[in-house]
Amino acid sequence: MQTIQHTLTEQYIEREEKYNAHNYHPLPVVLDRGKGVHVWDVEGKRYYDFLSGYSAINQGHCHPTIVKAFVEQAQKLTLTSRAFHNSLMGEFAEYITSYFGYDKVLPMNAGVEAVETAIKLVRRWGYTVKGIPNNEAKIIVCDGNFHGRTVNVISFSNDTETHNGFGPFTPGYIIIPYGDANALEIALKDPTVCGFLLEPIQGEAGVLVPEDGYLKRSFELCKEANVLFMADEIQTGLARTGCMLACDHENVRPDVLILGKALSGGMMPVSAVLCDDEIMLTIKPGEHGSTYGGNPLACKVSMTALQVLKDENMTENAAVLGDYFRQSLRALNNKHIGLVRGKGLLNAIVINHPDKDAAWTLCLKLRDNGLLAKPTHGDKIRFAPPLVITKEQIDDCVAIIANSLDVLN
Ligand SMILES: Cc1ncc(COP(=O)(O)O)c(C=O)c1O
Repeated sequence: MQTIQHTLTEQYIEREEKYNAHNYHPLPVVLDRGKGVHVWDVEGKRYYDFLSGYSAINQGHCHPTIVKAFVEQAQKLTLTSRAFHNSLMGEFAEYITSYFGYDKVLPMNAGVEAVETAIKLVRRWGYTVKGIPNNEAKIIVCDGNFHGRTVNVISFSNDTETHNGFGPFTPGYIIIPYGDANALEIALKDPTVCGFLLEPIQGEAGVLVPEDGYLKRSFELCKEANVLFMADEIQTGLARTGCMLACDHENVRPDVLILGKALSGGMMPVSAVLCDDEIMLTIKPGEHGSTYGGNPLACKVSMTALQVLKDENMTENAAVLGDYFRQSLRALNNKHIGLVRGKGLLNAIVINHPDKDAAWTLCLKLRDNGLLAKPTHGDKIRFAPPLVITKEQIDDCVAIIANSLDVLN
């Protein structure tokens, strides 16, 4: 009997398929190590990483300064729980609040936990400060949103894939079209609304950039209605779009700022909510928490990850190279690129092709040619490399994209 020879990659994937839940549909590549903008698979092949862990690795893979901080702190103290104080909590809180200009921070772990925390804070503010009758507070959200995967958060998602079959859902949300300030104005007439939660650019929806002025106008409308403006900057924040926060493009200071992903430079789950005392102090001791939230390892890693963004001018690099990247993609004049959009180094192309699997086919070809990216919502491919990328590397990647597009002819 003939035995089938499996490649190393196939062996890894088969094992994973057999024992791991099938809650993702990964590109068939098995990664083993990373450095800066590059990752290597188990066969030793090198790729450009154009997903950056969904923007968690803005600082580049295994950034040496962050790794050093991680290792040193891991050898000293990693977790105390919040039952006790730890020697880094205050330093971290002072550092991050002055970095972003807020009175206080509430640290969590995964991004969705920070979203949940923000929702609790805003509802509590709605009852205790705004005076909304108990259990009637509502939050306005946007069509096509992605804020994470808990039952509460998917309760206000209208993406059937993330939503269907997981009910019953949590009430208290009003969904309006994204980018439509008039729709917001109408929804804000409801006096039981306490918050407006949005992504300044919708990442998972395919890098949807709202029209200039939308964030500012929405913020002003919220102020007029005494409603808190909540920005989920988990994907758009931390230099990704060419400003430290995507809201900075329109000089908007969110009432509630939600951060995650690159807050640890890809080392571990660290998320946070920042706001001023009027909101933050509505939650009292014992009313919210997390075993790992604010652990000393996360505090140290997070301060270092934030400092690296500034020390290495990653905001400027994202702004300059983002413009250059979009121009270069448009200059390809390729009939299969229907649209190029984005800000800074958060970009997407929309594939123009009759085959509904064309984006997936292109991503497989990109992989073969040494660049990793993933389709989102069928026909869109997000291009979001680490912010340490250079102009020469962008040129190299645009050439890879141009060559790979031939697969669609
Ligand atoms: C805008 C936004 N919010 C929230 C989340 C959820 O973050 P996490 O997967 O860390 O829970 C994501 C993840 O992609 C996101 O892009």
